[in-house]
Amino acid sequence: MTRGDRVQLGAGVDWGLLIGADARYRNTFLEVFDSLTPQNEMKMDALQPQRARYEFAIADQLVAFAVAHGKQVRGHTTVWHKQLPTWLTRRSWARAELTAILKDHVQTVIGRYRGRISEWDVVNEPIAEDGTLRPTIWRGTLGHGYVADALCWAHEADPGARLYINDYNTELAGPKADRLYALAQELVAREVPLHGVGFQMHVSTASYPREAGLVANMRRFSDLGLGVDVTELDVRTSGTPGSAEERLAAQREVYRTVAAACRALERCDRLTTWGITDAHSWLGPAELPLPFDGSYEPKPAFAVLRETLALR
Ligand code: XIL
Repeated sequence: MTRGDRVQLGAGVDWGLLIGADARYRNTFLEVFDSLTPQNEMKMDALQPQRARYEFAIADQLVAFAVAHGKQVRGHTTVWHKQLPTWLTRRSWARAELTAILKDHVQTVIGRYRGRISEWDVVNEPIAEDGTLRPTIWRGTLGHGYVADALCWAHEADPGARLYINDYNTELAGPKADRLYALAQELVAREVPLHGVGFQMHVSTASYPREAGLVANMRRFSDLGLGVDVTELDVRTSGTPGSAEERLAAQREVYRTVAAACRALERCDRLTTWGITDAHSWLGPAELPLPFDGSYEPKPAFAVLRETLALR
């Protein structure tokens, strides 16, 4: 994707809310956002609830909705250690069997939306806090090579799609981000089809990266020729003492920081928030982490996003 004159704004969405009775959710999405990421509708438990029996009805509607409204879709996600179907997790698998299962899943899902979903979080959260490759069903049975294999299978299924590794707590250099960097560097050197790294950025007003460190860390990934999008931004506020107004002002500063870092990086094409409104966040009702309040009024966080992302 080539960047236009501003950073695009995306939203992690819930399909039920997008087509639900409260039109404010849909209208806010359509008015304000360039793209959507399904928060749950494309995870493995949703798409392959029984072995080799795929359920694409909802995902198909979601993609059709996006296409009809001129919105991009960020596919999320084919290889993860959570929200797996129970048929997969309740027994162990021989390596060849699990390889066939993962290859089929990646290629069936990505192939189905070939030409319509232009970027995918192919592998989600592969790195553990201590900087090792996270011990998951995939790594345990398939070995370290599963990341490269999944990317190659994805590329075969849609050679035009931009393929990402997506992770959290990788904003600043440290054991986790450094391991992700080493992995990205190795994949690029081996010419594995990796096109970007997603920085989830589930952060809080009490703990968030400062701009210089964030830009420096993201820049080393973009210097490998990789995209460096912000993929799941939300900013928890419960850790900041003070009035509601003070908390929202602190939150505005965090949104400004992340947006400014993205704007500063040529390869940061899009910033996606993990939801739209405080009325519906995966973090519950208390954190008020999103750019619109529970009544769909724009918060200081939204004003600063719009202002900062436009100023390219
Ligand atoms: C979350 C969804 O928002 C929730 O609705 C669900 O219950 C759990 O998963 N990192 C990710 C996302 O990559 O898929 C997660 O989404 C949030 C953390």
